Amino acid sequence: MHLCFSASRRNRQRPEGAAMPDILVSSPAPHVQLIQFNRPHARNALSLALLKETAEVLRSAEADPTIRAVVLAGDDKAFSAGADIKEMPDGGIPMWGQRERLSAWKTLEQFRKPLIAAVEGYALGGGCEITLLCDIVIASRAARFGLPEVKIGAFPGDGGTQRLPRAIGKSRAMWMIMTGSFIDGQTACDWGMATEATAPGEALARACAIAEEIAGMSPIAIEMIKQEVLMTYSKPLDESLSLERKLLLWQTQDHDEGIAAFIEKRKPVFTGR
Ligand code: CAA
Repeated sequence: MHLCFSASRRNRQRPEGAAMPDILVSSPAPHVQLIQFNRPHARNALSLALLKETAEVLRSAEADPTIRAVVLAGDDKAFSAGADIKEMPDGGIPMWGQRERLSAWKTLEQFRKPLIAAVEGYALGGGCEITLLCDIVIASRAARFGLPEVKIGAFPGDGGTQRLPRAIGKSRAMWMIMTGSFIDGQTACDWGMATEATAPGEALARACAIAEEIAGMSPIAIEMIKQEVLMTYSKPLDESLSLERKLLLWQTQDHDEGIAAFIEKRKPVFTGR
């Protein structure tokens, strides 16, 4: 796939001499938005500013019908090394409890469109927890996933203690969280934390190709799929099965178009209605 990155107005608008933006936003393929963490000097640690900017872009993406999938990435050294340890205040409310921080995490968790992580280098702590809430994770075989919070006397509190065991099972999750040990991208894939492991340097292109493929589907069908699959983690089976049945009753123009295109032996054109 040819990656054609068109930088967003958001990046271009920065006046000369302004501080480096914490995230870069671009459009690598039609209907696909790419958000790249851009704090290489701090291994893309999740400062409050970075989290807030990411959440702001996701909120706009959710409201923008031309965006059908979002890819999250870092650089070749790190997807993200987790919470910005240097930003942690000395006293008062712990950083984890800051209202704006929690609200940014909620936006990530509740994003309704497909969220795809492209992981090169470290995905640690909060960085690993972001990959755990993404719908699809493409990892370089050389990537390093881990939840090392225990080493600073803490624990992974942005979903790690809940999502990791659901992804890889209790025993492996306990080992990772209690020892802070890292696993590589291939192991993350073998254990169910990642969808695919690529050669180093190829995770982003592969993630964008998958995002482009998904962006060609009916966006309504894709949103419903995400909603339904995520019910697995929040509802008992009988309840989610009956909700799945109810959602099946939804009638959409995209569904009519999909069936018509199949019968007429042509490519469907989905409009999201
Ligand atoms: N916060 C702030 N700065 C960080 C950081 C973080 N999480 N991770 C790395 N950095 C900074 C380093 O301090 C260093 O800065 P200086 O050059 O100014 O010293 C710079 O990034 C480069 O880091 P290293 O020199 O250590 O680079 P490396 O490639 O040798 O090692 C690393 C990379 C393994 C990621 C290592 O930096 C590291 O262990 N970082 C901490 C990871 C961590 O503990 N993450 C969990 C955070 S807690 C969390 O996320 C909480 C939660 O879920 C609730």
